[in-house]
Amino acid sequence: MRALVVYESMFGNTRDVAEAIAAGLGEHADVTVAEVATAPTVMGEMLDLLVVGGPTHAFGLSRETTRASAVDQSDQPLVSSGLGLRDWLADLRVEPGLRAATFDTHADKPNLPGSAAAAARRRLRRLRLRVIAPPESFYVEGMTGPLRAGELERARAWGRHLATEVTAALTAG
Ligand SMILES: Cc1cc2nc3c(=O)[nH]c(=O)nc-3n(C[C@H](O)[C@H](O)[C@H](O)COP(=O)(O)O)c2cc1C
Repeated sequence: MRALVVYESMFGNTRDVAEAIAAGLGEHADVTVAEVATAPTVMGEMLDLLVVGGPTHAFGLSRETTRASAVDQSDQPLVSSGLGLRDWLADLRVEPGLRAATFDTHADKPNLPGSAAAAARRRLRRLRLRVIAPPESFYVEGMTGPLRAGELERARAWGRHLATEVTAALTAG
């Protein structure tokens, strides 16, 4: 089976999670990982699973204003300096029924609501994709990270789990 992981990331945490998810998927699938500015917006028929993730900004998907604010919070260049996931999702052209899952990174604060993964999932459902898992959050310390201990292992396990689910569904026909 073939999977594509598309991510947006400011400081590198979501990129690292995306790569860990891809490593888990890669135990059972052919996987491509793409930063959102370089990701295709038209999905080929050969794809079996689309996984989409980004950082939670202002309770949801990033906007131009929140990305500008991220620039002020780091002395390093941003990983995603152009397009955001919100814009990419608006341009996405895909066959209904494609299996999909969404993830985000989120501040490690139990009472902070909102999730980029939940917002992305709503958009994918509107495009009639078949979302096969609840939105998954991976937690960062502070605003810029690092990831909480163990999150990369959890991301890899999540990727492995998604691949197993899709492989089983494809085998069952
Ligand atoms: C402008 C801005 C707004 C943010 N708003 C939220 C928020 O509403 N909820 C939250 O959990 N984290 C929030 N964060 C923290 C981000 O989730 C965190 O920076 C991100 O997970 C780090 O991932 P990245 O390195 O891939 O960008 C915000 C960060 C920035 C820069």
